[in-house]
Amino acid sequence: MNMLVANWKMAPENPKAALSLAKATSAIARTSKKHTQLIVCVPYVFLSTVTNGAKTLLVGGQDVASTTAPASTGKISAAMLKGVGATYCIVGHSETRAAGDTNETVKEKIDRLIEQKLSPIVCVGEKERDDHGWYLSTIKDQIESAFMGIVKPMLKRFVIAYEPIWAIGANATREATPIECQEMVLFIRKLLTDLYDEKSARSVPILYGGSVTEDNARAFVTDGDAAGLLVGRVSLEPKRFAKIAQRIAQQ
Ligand code: PGA
Repeated sequence: MNMLVANWKMAPENPKAALSLAKATSAIARTSKKHTQLIVCVPYVFLSTVTNGAKTLLVGGQDVASTTAPASTGKISAAMLKGVGATYCIVGHSETRAAGDTNETVKEKIDRLIEQKLSPIVCVGEKERDDHGWYLSTIKDQIESAFMGIVKPMLKRFVIAYEPIWAIGANATREATPIECQEMVLFIRKLLTDLYDEKSARSVPILYGGSVTEDNARAFVTDGDAAGLLVGRVSLEPKRFAKIAQRIAQQ
């Protein structure tokens, strides 16, 4: 079973467009459900629109408060996400890390989600690659911090998304190659094996994200060893997103 996560980021602009996108995405989820578990991470203001309007879709938030203190103007708690029917939540996305998230705050957010029995989709990734492999220590720190205090029975809730920052969004410098993805999947699995054991490490899906399109999607899953994909911009275009779902199902 593959996992396909849509990250709508700060789109679309109004509830009507969100509902129509949710319905189109729900149709894709139904068509691909034999091979793929599809999760849609939507802006907070559309969570209810999507959970009510497309009841069978698995829905997630894109961020969560690191605290439960009610005096947190502008923040959304894990309990609130759960209250509107979300079951997943992205944490540590490079765009929220760029806006101030640290390994420590990401860890706090993970703990808040786990307290509410929600599933964290933990994003990790390096800003750039160097010839000495220093970027691996960035990933190691991100993973070790995220899983601190997490005991084996909790692992079943976790999803990891490897998203190299240099390959994400409109400012991406280039696409990652499936080989670069595979090396990182192996590296992350090894880190989890060191923290737990091999069987537990294999139970956590490691996805790839960063400029995924209908043309490169399949290679990340087949040659890149990713358990699925996290898709940003293309998830806003149902025809193209449907093609991604189709291509990763043809294994
Ligand atoms: P992208 O975004 O697919 O638009 O590069 C991926 C992400 O930011 O999660």
